[in-house]
Amino acid sequence: MPSFTATLKASKHIIAVAGAGLSAASGEMTIGIPTFRGAGGLWRKYDAMGLATPQAFQANPSRVWQFYHYRREKALAAQPNPGHLALAMFSVPSLRHRMAPNSEFTLITQNVDGLSRRALEQIAATHPELAGEVNSPAVQDSLLEMHGRLFDVVCTSEACRYREHNTNSPICPALAGTENVFTKDEPEPHIDEADLPRCSKCGSLARPGVVWFEEMPWYLDRIDDLVDQADLCIVVGTSSTVYPAAGYAYAVRENGGKTAVFNLNRSEGDQDADFLFLGPAETTLPKALGLQ
Ligand code: OAD
Ligand code: ZN
Repeated sequence: MPSFTATLKASKHIIAVAGAGLSAASGEMTIGIPTFRGAGGLWRKYDAMGLATPQAFQANPSRVWQFYHYRREKALAAQPNPGHLALAMFSVPSLRHRMAPNSEFTLITQNVDGLSRRALEQIAATHPELAGEVNSPAVQDSLLEMHGRLFDVVCTSEACRYREHNTNSPICPALAGTENVFTKDEPEPHIDEADLPRCSKCGSLARPGVVWFEEMPWYLDRIDDLVDQADLCIVVGTSSTVYPAAGYAYAVRENGGKTAVFNLNRSEGDQDADFLFLGPAETTLPKALGLQ
């Protein structure tokens, strides 16, 4: 820990790469948001990964919408945890500069649940003296949701492609309650396309505004620049198996930067990290960043 504190103090271009483990501790009561590959990485009897593809949506939009409706409802019921809050506080220059003077920081998250954005909102609400800084474009733009957002909805019509922010619960009447019949072996009910979420502009079928496998993650050019410049990469709660995110720590190390991994368990490539904090990120991260 003292050595990590010294590294933080010396770092000027810091990035964090987050994954599902950052949100694992959030959620109503003790039931967290399931990670993709851990226990609970199934939705009904389907592999969650197999549902996150354009092909799955084309073949069965009813099934895929029920999966995303379930995840939307989970995320809406969840609260940012101390891990989200620590990263959000760290993204506020006046707080971060106590630990890492004159540094820049960007949080690159693979999570689509919106909890890191809500953590920023929460800090602005609970610390009015910081609200101006938190709401500044510099801080708001330092959170990159590279796999998109659960609460964006996008039109599937090529001619339209309208994207809108939508936190309605349920997102449409036909999906109401389908999240409760979550069992691992029963098939889901069928919902007609006409009753699934539709584009509010043109009425075509809408899809979740997330990045699916085979689709291009967001902000890749900006992220490449940040990775090139970074002298410290903090990896939080990701199995580091999905590219390009899985390669960022490696690239930073190749450039001579340091890497720190925060994970409950051992994860891909962590043997090469300069720092390994094994344990729940919601506990280790606030301590390590000096922001509890
Ligand atoms: P995974 O489910 O693959 O990995 C979650 C990681 O979090 C594992 O390494 C766990 O050990 C760790 N973990 C669990 N609880 C934790 C806790 N409380 N504190 C710290 N670590 C904890 O999820 P991701 O790596 O995020 O992409 O998956 C990456 C991408 O693959 C996702 O964004 C999604 C997915 O399938 C798309 O859908 C495109
Ligand atoms: Zn449309």
